[in-house]
Amino acid sequence: MKNSPAILGGQPVFAAKVNIVRPVLPDFNEMSDEVQGILKSGMVTKGQHLRAFEQAVQEHLGVRHAVAVSSCTTGLMLTYKGLGLTGDVVVPSFTFMATVSALVWAGLRPVFADVDRGTTNLDPAAAEAAITPQTSAIVAVHNFGNPADIDALQDVANRHGLKLVFDSAHGFGALYQGKPVGSQGDAHVYSLSPTKLLIAGEGGIVATNHDDLADKIRIGREYGNSGSYDSAFAGINARMPEINALMGLHSLQRLEEAAQRRNETVAIYHELLGCLPGVHFQEVRPGNRNSYKDFSITIDPQTFGLERDDLMQALAAENVDTRKYYDPPVHRQTAYAHYADDTDLANTNWLATYSVSLPIWSNMENETAMKICQAVQNIHEHAAQIREQQRS
Ligand SMILES: Cc1ncc(COP(=O)(O)O)c(C=O)c1O
Repeated sequence: MKNSPAILGGQPVFAAKVNIVRPVLPDFNEMSDEVQGILKSGMVTKGQHLRAFEQAVQEHLGVRHAVAVSSCTTGLMLTYKGLGLTGDVVVPSFTFMATVSALVWAGLRPVFADVDRGTTNLDPAAAEAAITPQTSAIVAVHNFGNPADIDALQDVANRHGLKLVFDSAHGFGALYQGKPVGSQGDAHVYSLSPTKLLIAGEGGIVATNHDDLADKIRIGREYGNSGSYDSAFAGINARMPEINALMGLHSLQRLEEAAQRRNETVAIYHELLGCLPGVHFQEVRPGNRNSYKDFSITIDPQTFGLERDDLMQALAAENVDTRKYYDPPVHRQTAYAHYADDTDLANTNWLATYSVSLPIWSNMENETAMKICQAVQNIHEHAAQIREQQRS
């Protein structure tokens, strides 16, 4: 007989907690000489590693400029400012809060538009419907690493004379029609924080083909000081330290392997969870590759037998960490709810209710993914008893 789920008193599938993510970092030995060099030289910021990292990313993405900054959030703030955006900006609510917080910091008004339920990305038709006379840009997200509907969004932006920015926080490792996302739109802004495939400790990259924007980001990350000590505009300190740039450079060498490995892990998840009723996966359009920075599924309680939150609780008892990305969505968060009047965000609200992210990282063992699937299967098979227990 099968073991009962841990929530019903059985043995947990995992003896120790399986975290939602495990950062895969470069080995210290491969970096130690260069780290020593940084410390000895005293050049701890704005040095050769920053330049080397920017050059390598530029080549990898196939863009004219890759400007390294202290985070994706500061990169977004500087990009929104650097493009001279004004008034309203169309943005999804089914995203991480920083996509929108950076807009507000840049003095812009977010206008939320709905996402496609399958891809979980900004729906071009909804984005177009959200355009107001004050709109200056559309900001889209490659959600969880799934390339956005880039061509359709560019078409909308062109027809309305708008800028198009991609929050590409999850974008390293994602391929759009076979090529890395990054050269499309006016700018792509990436995160290099520890939950990503390409990790610099903390950090971000602004990728753009516009010389003018790249200049503004370079000056903007230095307080707005181009070197003359006469501020061109109000900037911030958004520099990337040398040690972080070095870590990023080493991490870039492992990026392709990380993306492939995550896709292999997801293939296991798909195979073992795809047969369960009520479990659905993020839809990746033909020709694209998801980086799977996160692996998110939706749970239909009618057919799966349990609510998303019940599954999360039962998985926690098995020592499996999960996340509700993104619940609450940005338009229902305290700081942003007042921007959300009269918007139709049915898919956003649906996804926020039914989505759950399962553990994934860049060198996850097959066995871990398989055991997580077994745990989900077992919980599904005992759904009636779990519901019963919760009622009592
Ligand atoms: C979609 C999205 N945008 C922006 C950010 C902010 O990135 P950072 O922590 O590098 O500022 C994140 C963080 O994970 C994110 O998920």
